[in-house]
Amino acid sequence: MKILVVGSGGREHSILSKLNESEAVEKLFCLPGNAGTGEIAENVDLSNLEIDKLIEFVKIKNIDLTVIGPEQPLIDGYADRFKKEGLNVFGPESKAALIEGSKAFSKDLMQKYNIPTAKYQNFVDFDKAVSFAKEMNSDMWIKASGLAAGKGAVYASDPDKAYEILKSMMVDKEFGEAGNEVVIEENMTGEEASIFAVSDGNYYKVLPSAQDHKAIFDGDRGPNTGGMGSYSPAPIINDELLKEIEEKIISPSFEAMKSENRTYKGVLFIGLMITPEGPKVIEYNCRFGDPETQVILPKFDGDLADLLMKAAKSEFTKNEILPMKSDHYLCLVLASGGYPGSYAKGHVIEGLNNIEENSSVIHAGTKKDGENVVTSGGRVLGIVSQGSTLKESKDRSYKMAEQIDFRDKYYRYDIGDKGIKRYGIE
Ligand code: AMP
Ligand code: GLY
Repeated sequence: MKILVVGSGGREHSILSKLNESEAVEKLFCLPGNAGTGEIAENVDLSNLEIDKLIEFVKIKNIDLTVIGPEQPLIDGYADRFKKEGLNVFGPESKAALIEGSKAFSKDLMQKYNIPTAKYQNFVDFDKAVSFAKEMNSDMWIKASGLAAGKGAVYASDPDKAYEILKSMMVDKEFGEAGNEVVIEENMTGEEASIFAVSDGNYYKVLPSAQDHKAIFDGDRGPNTGGMGSYSPAPIINDELLKEIEEKIISPSFEAMKSENRTYKGVLFIGLMITPEGPKVIEYNCRFGDPETQVILPKFDGDLADLLMKAAKSEFTKNEILPMKSDHYLCLVLASGGYPGSYAKGHVIEGLNNIEENSSVIHAGTKKDGENVVTSGGRVLGIVSQGSTLKESKDRSYKMAEQIDFRDKYYRYDIGDKGIKRYGIE
C-alpha cells in the first residue's frame, strides 16, 4: 500500500510512525509534513493544500489511501471529492464533519437523540444571547459555533463577563464568521477524558482512552493550548464506565448521524466530562486528537494501515474488539517559550539522537534547515514513552526531556500526575 497523510503536526507524525510498522505499507507520503515525518515518509509540498492538485498527485503516484489529519479540509469537503473520484480516503464527508464544524448542530443533535451533554441554547441574535446569559444566574461557557482553532470556548463567571465575551464574538467578530452563532451552556464539573471510535459507516470500533492537558501551566492553570501532554489509558475510564459511555454516547452518536442522513465514516473523537451524574459530551471532533494520538496509537496492538483502509472501504465486521497492549503511554510536549502566545521560531534542536529504549520522539513544529532540525511552531516535539505503569512512562519521558534542548524550551512538570494519583486512590 502507498499511503498519504495530510497534515504537519505531531498527530500526523504519530499516524505515519504507526503506519510504518505495517508490513502492507510500501511507501508513505506526508503533505506537507515536518522534519520528523520526512524521516519515514516523502514530504510533499503542494503549496496551500489545494484540492485539485492533491487529487492529481494521488492519481499520479497511485496512492491507495489518503488519511486526512486536520478538521478544516474535512469540513471543506476534501473527503467528498476523494469519494467522487473513486479514491480511498480516511475521514468523514463534509456533512458528517459538521459534527465538529458547528457546535450548534452538535448540541441540537445530542438534544434530539438524548445523548448526555450540558444544558444549552444556541443564538444568532446578540440581544437574545445577552438576556439568556442574564437569566442563567450561574457561571457558564460561551462558545463560537464554528471552527476557532481551539480558542472558541470561553468561561464566563457571571453575566457581565458573558456580555463582554458575547460582544467580542458576535459584534466585534473576534473569531470571524465562526462567532455568527454562539452556544451558551452550563458549566459542568468533573474530570475530562477523550475517547476515539473508528467507524466504517456500518460498525464502529473503540480505540484506547486518553487524557489531555490543555492548559499551558502546571495545575491546569493559564490559557488553553492545543494540548501540553497526554496519557493512555485514562484511569478514570474503567470497564464499567466504558460500557456506559458506549451505550449512552458512542453508539447513539453514530446512530444519530445515520438517522440524520449524515453517516459518519472516519474517527470520531469525543471529548467527555465525567460528572457526578455520569459521562457527558463536551464536544465532538471529526479527526484524531493531538496529542492524544501520540499515546493511543502505540497502545493499539494492531495494524493501523489495515484498520484505516477497512474503514475507508466499509469492510468492518460486527462486534470486533481492537487489540490493545497492556502498557501505559505518556506524551510530554516540549513547546516554544511564549506559546500559546507569540514565540520565536528557527532555534536549533539538539540531542534528537539521544533516544532511550521505550521512548520515541514525535515531531510537531519542526523543520529541516540544512543539516539542522529547527523549531517552527508552538508545540515542537512530543516525547512518548511506554511503561508498565503510568509513573514509569512519565519518568522516562521526563528523563528524555532533559536530554533534548532548544532555546526557550518549555514544558509542564505535572503531565500524568492526575492519572498517577487516581491509580494511588484505587
Ligand atoms: P470545547 O472547545 O467545547 O472542547 O471546549 C474546550 C474546553 O473548555 C474543554 O476541553 C473543557 O476544558 C472546557 N469546557 C467546555 N465546555 C465546558 C462545560 N460546559 N463545562 C466545563 N468545561 C467546559
Ligand atoms: N487535544 C485536543 C484536540 O486535538 O483537539
